[in-house]
Amino acid sequence: MSAFDFDVTELFDKESDWGKKFHFDPPTDEMIRRAEEKLGYRFPPSYVELLKTWNGGVIADDYEESWLTTIYGIAPEQGGYGALENMFENWRDEWEYPDVGIPFGETQSAGHDMYYMDFRTVSEDGEPIIIRIDNEFDNEERFVAKNLAEFLGMIYRNEKIDEKPLSKEENPLTKEERPMKAAVRYYTKTGNTKRLAEAVANAIGVEALPITTPVTEAVDVLFLGNSYYAFNIDPEVRDFVKSLDKDLVGKIVNFGSAAMLNSTYKKVKAEADKVGIPMDEREFHCKGEFKGIHKGKPDEADMKAVAEFAKKIMD
Ligand SMILES: Cc1cc2nc3c(=O)[nH]c(=O)nc-3n(C[C@H](O)[C@H](O)[C@H](O)COP(=O)(O)O)c2cc1C
Repeated sequence: MSAFDFDVTELFDKESDWGKKFHFDPPTDEMIRRAEEKLGYRFPPSYVELLKTWNGGVIADDYEESWLTTIYGIAPEQGGYGALENMFENWRDEWEYPDVGIPFGETQSAGHDMYYMDFRTVSEDGEPIIIRIDNEFDNEERFVAKNLAEFLGMIYRNEKIDEKPLSKEENPLTKEERPMKAAVRYYTKTGNTKRLAEAVANAIGVEALPITTPVTEAVDVLFLGNSYYAFNIDPEVRDFVKSLDKDLVGKIVNFGSAAMLNSTYKKVKAEADKVGIPMDEREFHCKGEFKGIHKGKPDEADMKAVAEFAKKIMD
């Protein structure tokens, strides 16, 4: 089912050269994942749908009442002009907008205020509220809409947008209290760690990725899934930890399973120490099936337990 109750492509200027500068071919899942990693936010379903339907563009003249002028899309190359990843850095680093979410929408002020998806307040279906941040007024924040679909619907119907001050009650988290960013990486030979990693990732709203995917963006917590093979962690896990940048990884949280041994914690810590990344003392470990021993492990109860564990770490 579509998040939008109208044809979103109608919002966009498809003719002018200026409009074309902000529009790209539909993004691949890989491009979306790249952008999510870059920004450190998981894109809400509505924004993914919008990008896949119309990947960025300028609002058409038919909507001249609209304060919103541009919605950013994802360019094939990360540094692409007028594309989300590039603009995100610009607004955060050059203009000193607060990093509270995705600056998806430019306005008639051309940067002096911006529309953000505010990830401090996200609905159960993964949709952040929309706010407008006024850079000219000390980054004052105003509540605009409860989600992207509602916001764009109001523009489509030329409705007056009734902004409200963003009160503490509506949005209780301050910038300092913003949620931790996390990533999940795993190494698996027979699939057990992958299943645990997926349970961790689902619980905290990120993606579980194999350790062949490097960590290129800053995270507070890196959940690292691994196991014992012939009394040791796999050399690939060792190399992965060695490759980590301590400026990007706040700490490592170890999780995994094994057939006989209890925990890979010390082995992983020995590598983490070498690169100066702290290990959280808490870890998750359970039995893992191997050659008919511990059949079905990790089982449903383990999946539940590891999900609870991950949530607790993120509290
Ligand atoms: C080649 C191999 C060697 C293993 N060696 C050990 C071991 O020395 N000690 C142990 O406790 N478990 C050992 N196991 C069991 C694994 O740690 C256990 O099955 C784990 O759940 C595997 O996770 P994975 O499916 O993500 O690879 C071994 C498994 C394999 C496949």
